[in-house]
Amino acid sequence: MKTFTKYALAAACLATTTSAFAPPALSGVQTTANTQLFSTVDDKTEVREYFNNEGFNRWNKIYSESDEVNTVQLDIRNGHDQTIQKILNWVEADGDIKGKTVCDCGCGVGSLAIPLAQMDNKQTGAEISASDISDAMSTEAAARAKAMGIRNAKFYTSDLESVKGKYNTVTCVDVAIHYPTEKMAEMVGHLCSLADERVLISFAPKTWYYDLLKKFGELFPGPSKTTRAYLHKEEVVREALKKAGFEVSREEMTGTNFYFSRLLEAKRV
Ligand SMILES: C[S@@+](CC[C@H](N)C(=O)[O-])C[C@H]1O[C@@H](n2cnc3c(N)ncnc32)[C@H](O)[C@@H]1O
Repeated sequence: MKTFTKYALAAACLATTTSAFAPPALSGVQTTANTQLFSTVDDKTEVREYFNNEGFNRWNKIYSESDEVNTVQLDIRNGHDQTIQKILNWVEADGDIKGKTVCDCGCGVGSLAIPLAQMDNKQTGAEISASDISDAMSTEAAARAKAMGIRNAKFYTSDLESVKGKYNTVTCVDVAIHYPTEKMAEMVGHLCSLADERVLISFAPKTWYYDLLKKFGELFPGPSKTTRAYLHKEEVVREALKKAGFEVSREEMTGTNFYFSRLLEAKRV
């Protein structure tokens, strides 16, 4: 592919595979302790709606072995597979998942939760608790796990702000792209509050290059709109982890033609 065409396509993809319809503000109807977090996450209603409908159909295909994917979607699938594999490699290298609890926030169709549960089946003992804001996504994840005979993973529908409890490891992979910039630090703080030992988070990094690519892509809105896409400054994520008492222990960057994801593992110090 010619370089310009490749970048143009990548830009369009950044802007349209994850970006789109302008959401109305979520009127502050929630009255829990997390009121601030709830009332200002104004994209949430649209994200839920999207991943229960058009987004579910699209991402269910991307996160599968379906042949019904175009070149861009195939590239995104390959990039995402790499991120998942990097996490599994870290967990396997540590060899310490036996007897542990894992909470996967924004689990999608279970692309990480299921192999983590399977890994655990060999070692016995860990419990996977996975949730997603989209009922269609969490239901599909549960169905996939059931079809594989997995019993040590439960799936439920919840926005990540409402997830409660304490877990050894908390994971949140490729969810932050749907998360407003100004709420990112608070979201990271919430994930950390759930984690006794480790947080694994991935996000599209806000660099001048990816920013430019995104802005350029917005000039070419595709036929199918999804949700707005947010890139995040790495220092904001690192600072939030630090503030919550975590230290980055491992890091990776996965970049294909159309998929960009920075992955950080942080451990409680
Ligand atoms: C790009 S998919 C990634 C799914 C999964 N983490 C993976 O890597 O396979 C993003 C997922 O985040 C979910 N999501 C977005 N905002 C969320 C929120 N506030 N709370 C929980 N899930 C959310 C979406 O429904 C969608 O399933």
